[in-house]
Amino acid sequence: MAKFHNIQVHDIYKVTKDCSVVTFQIPDDLITEFQYKQGQHLTLKTIIDGEDVRRSYSLCSSPTENKWQVAVKKIGGGLFSSFINDTLKKGDFVEIMPPSGKFSVEIDAEKAKNYIVFAAGSGITPIVSIIKTHLAQEPNSTFKLFYLNRSVKSIIFKEEIEQLKNKYFNRFEIFHFLTKEQRFSELFNGRFTKEKIQILTEKIIDVPAVDECFICGPEDMIFLLRDELIAAGLDKDKIHYELFTSGISDADKIRIKKIVEQKAEGTDVTIIDGGKEFHFVMDEAYDNILDGALAAGADLPFACKGGVCSTCKCKVIEGEVEMKVNYALDAHEVARGLVLSCQAVPITDKVVVDFGF
Ligand code: FES
Repeated sequence: MAKFHNIQVHDIYKVTKDCSVVTFQIPDDLITEFQYKQGQHLTLKTIIDGEDVRRSYSLCSSPTENKWQVAVKKIGGGLFSSFINDTLKKGDFVEIMPPSGKFSVEIDAEKAKNYIVFAAGSGITPIVSIIKTHLAQEPNSTFKLFYLNRSVKSIIFKEEIEQLKNKYFNRFEIFHFLTKEQRFSELFNGRFTKEKIQILTEKIIDVPAVDECFICGPEDMIFLLRDELIAAGLDKDKIHYELFTSGISDADKIRIKKIVEQKAEGTDVTIIDGGKEFHFVMDEAYDNILDGALAAGADLPFACKGGVCSTCKCKVIEGEVEMKVNYALDAHEVARGLVLSCQAVPITDKVVVDFGF
């Protein structure tokens, strides 16, 4: 199981009035463990008012830069994002878990691939890492970025993206969409809609030529883009997406209620981790294995507790669980028996899960 390490803040600065970029100083003895791929994230932990608070933030730097950098936008009522934007300073230490996540495809310097990427607001953070890395390491690949923001002032990495455009002027195009300011063309005013995506796929995106598509933003935007791009002829296997919020739909709420009703009472749970075993009986106050285990005193990895980050994943060895939501594991992982422990409701009297699968 990946552990947290105490890492020093090398630098912190604002890119917009409510978004800070933090660079971490990874010590020499942890460099290998902290190697990462474009599109991966770091899970950060700190204690705020006595509470253990954790969040996952995408790396916005590229592995080619030999830097570990995240961008954190302050959100209303956000404990961790407020801590980073208002309190954290250069020289402070933060507990960080080594990079993880699979929002990426392999680099292939021999290939000339065409990428399209969609981002909304701070969804740009993994996307900018992906763009920088592929453009630097695949000299014949191209990118089209479709980037949605409220206003010009709120565009995170506006300058860095412009610089990339200048550096790779014949391989990188940017299309800004704004919701609170008027642009020169109606197409670029407001959010992505079915009609706008149809215009994009007819006039700007050569769908048959697209090799990969990356999308990062809220769930409704991701699923609209996914469905419309598939309708326009893009193979669904070429579409990769990452949620940065987990809004639960009404249909999901009904499904979750049914799953929780199936919960077995007093399940005997065994957690295997690195050869050690931890046994406990599920307290009826908790509906998922992670919360039950933490309450019983286990030390397990987690961050979002919303089924998004996959930090808490484990493998079911014995018994059965049902996941309330799953925004992180793909069908192959689920078929292998992997589950998100923060979403795993035990439905048998005995469950054994392995965190070191
Ligand atoms: S803690 Fe993020 S998916 Fe479970």
